Amino acid sequence: MEQPILEMKNIVRTFPGVKALSNVDFTLKKGSVHALMGENGAGKSTLMKCLVGINPPDSGQIILKGKPVVIPNPLIALKSGIAMIYQELNPVLERSVMENIWLGREPMRGKRGVFVDHKAMYENTKTLLADLKLDLDPKQKVKELSVAKMQMIEIAKAISFNADIVIMDEPTSALTNNEVDHLFLMIERLRKRNVSVIYITHKMDEIFRVADEVTVLRDGANVITKPVSEMNINSLITAMVGRELTDMFPKVDCPIGDVRMEVKHLEVPGLVHDVSFDLRRGEILGVSGLVGAGRTEMMEAIFGLRQKSSGEIYIEGQKKNIHTPVDAIKCHIGFLTEDRRQTGIIPVLTVKNNTIIASLGNYTKAKFFLDRRKINKTCSEYKDMLNIRTPSLEAIIQNLSGGNQQKVLVARWLLTNSDILILDEPTRGIDVGAKAEIHSIITKLASEGKSIIMVSSEMPEVIGMSDRVLVVCQGRITAVLDRKDLDQETIMRYATSINNHTA
Ligand SMILES: Nc1ncnc2c1ncn2[C@@H]1O[C@H](COP(=O)(O)OP(=O)(O)OP(=O)(O)O)[C@@H](O)[C@H]1O
Ligand SMILES: [Mg+2]
Repeated sequence: MEQPILEMKNIVRTFPGVKALSNVDFTLKKGSVHALMGENGAGKSTLMKCLVGINPPDSGQIILKGKPVVIPNPLIALKSGIAMIYQELNPVLERSVMENIWLGREPMRGKRGVFVDHKAMYENTKTLLADLKLDLDPKQKVKELSVAKMQMIEIAKAISFNADIVIMDEPTSALTNNEVDHLFLMIERLRKRNVSVIYITHKMDEIFRVADEVTVLRDGANVITKPVSEMNINSLITAMVGRELTDMFPKVDCPIGDVRMEVKHLEVPGLVHDVSFDLRRGEILGVSGLVGAGRTEMMEAIFGLRQKSSGEIYIEGQKKNIHTPVDAIKCHIGFLTEDRRQTGIIPVLTVKNNTIIASLGNYTKAKFFLDRRKINKTCSEYKDMLNIRTPSLEAIIQNLSGGNQQKVLVARWLLTNSDILILDEPTRGIDVGAKAEIHSIITKLASEGKSIIMVSSEMPEVIGMSDRVLVVCQGRITAVLDRKDLDQETIMRYATSINNHTA
């Protein structure tokens, strides 16, 4: 058998109060795409951070191309041929594509090599991008690019370092279907060059499309490593959550009531155009469309997070002036934001405070005093229900795994007791088990008469959960579909309809 390019043996890594990895083994073959799976907090990102030296292991061995190595930081990792594309992308937004790729190792010119050779940098970048069939201008500012393009740049960068191992941590969580296809083509090209890819995802179908092998971790320990051809979705889920999951979309049809909210002619210049729709009691209204279609902006305008130039919002038939999120919360609207880093978590606060912050009013006694016992009780209930992995409610939220941070945000808005709950990509980055749990909570809320707006890029989720679906394309609503008319093709057709007309 050919020598594996990488072996990690007996890797142990602890954080205060958490044993994130206990004696984990991981073997990577040359030219193989190896999926790494497991529930939120299972230790996937930590294992990779051990490999690239962000969190070096407490003990254990890393053997690269047959030789034991110590990798103290990501730069050494890169120089040893290991490149990582992080869960939260971190490009230098104000700089150009080429500056991002060559940052810190720019080609130099001049007598003592003191000037950056922009021409050489431009040419090198052009060659690199052409080689990967990436249609990008090396001089374009990175901030003008989509998340997908930013990822492509990270991949180009990895290639430019001649990496033998490329790690991708949930690369598709913010990509559209087309972009995912493109990413998979890139992975195929990497494989052809004999580059090995470690691929982390929560999306089951992706495993069967790209991966050769899969390793599942649970609670920081190995569960299985197998060729993907020997697995199916059920065996994979069972390995991850330790039990079978029967119902991903536990939607029950419940009676839909009167109109609760009407949005009329909403306009945000350049982003949202003449948007009108209504929302009923007990209804789950899905909002579908391509990433970048203006769905989030639409929701932000309704919630008062974004200035609208015109448009009215009526709740229970009464016109409401919503200019700020405080106004919206007073109207009993809650909003789970899509981007947990920018508008969601408050990184330095505890899990408990992040959970409770939007509903503090419900936890006061004698006017001024917080009812700490009630707060603790509620927070631990939600922690158990959503299976939030944290050493305690007092842990600082930024130390939680990505998916567990998202679960805290879901808990935050479920707790507000809003009549209208806007959920923007509620299950992004969330593992299968917790996803089913969140779906069943959404269903329960709807059956209690709450109204839910659920923006989601995951077709199965939209189709599985919604009573009606608004399809959005370039800031406009292009279709309102009833549950009985929902299928992937129809939604996609409307989601791209304006493009097709103008093409
Ligand atoms: N810097 C840190 N400080 C304290 N605890 C940490 C730190 N980084 C990770 N942990 C803990 O280690 C465990 C594993 O986290 P990790 O991020 O590896 O999970 P993951 O499998 O990548 O999950 P997800 O699917 O949610 O991204 C979690 O319990 C997490 O809270
Ligand atoms: Mg992770």
